[in-house]
Amino acid sequence: MSLVSMAQLLLDAQQGQYAVGAFNCNNMEIVQAIVSAAEAEKSPVIVQASQGAIKYAGIEYIAAMTRLAAEQASVPVALHLDHGTSFAQVMSCVRNSFTSVMIDGSKLPLEENIALTNKVIEAVRPLGISVEAELGKIGGTEDDITVSEKEALFTDPAEAERFVSETKVDALAIAIGTAHGQYKGVPELDFQRLTEIRKRVNVPIVLHGSSGVPNEAIQEAISLGVCKVNIDTNIREAFVAAARKVMVDHPQEIDPRKMLGPAREATVAIIREKIRLFGSSGKA
Ligand code: G3H
Ligand code: 13P
Ligand code: ZN
Repeated sequence: MSLVSMAQLLLDAQQGQYAVGAFNCNNMEIVQAIVSAAEAEKSPVIVQASQGAIKYAGIEYIAAMTRLAAEQASVPVALHLDHGTSFAQVMSCVRNSFTSVMIDGSKLPLEENIALTNKVIEAVRPLGISVEAELGKIGGTEDDITVSEKEALFTDPAEAERFVSETKVDALAIAIGTAHGQYKGVPELDFQRLTEIRKRVNVPIVLHGSSGVPNEAIQEAISLGVCKVNIDTNIREAFVAAARKVMVDHPQEIDPRKMLGPAREATVAIIREKIRLFGSSGKA
């Protein structure tokens, strides 16, 4: 199948009360693992690349690998820019056959976030490319801030309503207590805030920083309107643990395929687990 736009995948998920997994890729093995896992689960899937992934692998490689994986698959695959921060980056993805972009203006004042998001929407929507934006600040687990400082960065429901009505964005990433990376403790999600946002906003909601969030909390978030769940850290953990095990068990091994093969298999396994958790198995 050719790459598809993300918007319809998320609208179907919203209708069916499940979420589509958005999995970060950095190399060929991870792209293959994401699409194989989706194929095995008969699930739609979003392959996403951060600016760091694009810098590491090259945008042409990320796009070509994902396009090929999608063409060989029978399930719908979208290719999405994760946390794009500039118009130029978005356009570079557009030129390289991405079917969806995130424009993350969450560090900007509200008016500027709205203006940047609208500039992107105007440019890419006529091309059938979907747009995710972020409101509120989803930090990293390393951020050394107190609970009240963290809550001050959460998405304000009234602002979310204004943001969506003034941008008509396809999906909105919100801050309700998750963070990127490995958590030190167990994250607590602000479900009341999510409920309030859902009441005021009708577009699909995106949960970032979802690795390490307890399964029950992920399911609760999906039942309250989350339609896209982003996973990166759990992939890194599975991939590296499997490769490391080969290096430790067989220190003389010099064939990279003997390390990256098991790493790819471990990645398929964790992604299949997530797809089942998100309820998108069999929805392709
Ligand atoms: O949102 C953050 C993702 O985990 C991407 O991380 O910028 O290190 O590729 P990265
Ligand atoms: P995690 O690395 O915490 O899973 O977050 C992924 C993410 O939100 C990518 O945008
Ligand atoms: Zn993120």
